[in-house]
Amino acid sequence: MPARRHLIAPSILSADFARLGEEVRAVVDAGADFVHFDVMDNHYVPNLTVGPLVCEAIRPLTRATIDVHLMVKPVDRIVPDFAKAGANIISFHPEASEHVDRTIALIRDCGCRPGLAFNPATPLDWLDHTLQALDLVLIMSVNPGFGGQKFIPGTLEKIRAARARIDAAGREVLLEVDGGVKVDNIAAIARAGADTFVAGSAIFGTKDYKATIAALRAALATAGP
Ligand code: DX5
Ligand code: ZN
Repeated sequence: MPARRHLIAPSILSADFARLGEEVRAVVDAGADFVHFDVMDNHYVPNLTVGPLVCEAIRPLTRATIDVHLMVKPVDRIVPDFAKAGANIISFHPEASEHVDRTIALIRDCGCRPGLAFNPATPLDWLDHTLQALDLVLIMSVNPGFGGQKFIPGTLEKIRAARARIDAAGREVLLEVDGGVKVDNIAAIARAGADTFVAGSAIFGTKDYKATIAALRAALATAGP
């Protein structure tokens, strides 16, 4: 089996918002693959962050994939706005949509790649009738709402189960893990089957983003194929 490509997706949630443009440039120059864009609405999650206007503002600064993670309810009304603002991937939580299949189709129709996000207590059963239409599965390894939380160890088992489902589906679907990803646990997360790693505080909480992303990749290199 060819080695899986590992993608690093810094979450701008932990960036310095007063200098967001510089931060996005810096993290992409430092080797980020995706810019992970956390959208919170103070309704679905108890925090309030950024919307399409901010996505539109950072779009011209980079050609990197903008990976929008919607933690909002309702979902559908805001999807076309993010597509217009230049999002490439849009993920949402199934509990936040009345019609999950319709939301997935809407994201695709808007020209973006759809992802489905799973909270720690959300069962993977939601993949039964959706996986064939998804480009990304996002496993939350903390409860959504805040950066800087501790990785929930039981998530590793869930990542393994998601990997098995994706492999059985035989389609290219990214398996992204979000929450508490650090240099010292990223290899174990990769061994469980993840290929895309969101890291907020682990990257933006350090001074030298290039050194930190290199350390994450070095740890990944020890994870094996
Ligand atoms: C949490 C967000 C995450 C978060 C990750 O609700 O979806 O993307 O910012 O932050 P860290 O890496 O600090 O746990
Ligand atoms: Zn996120």
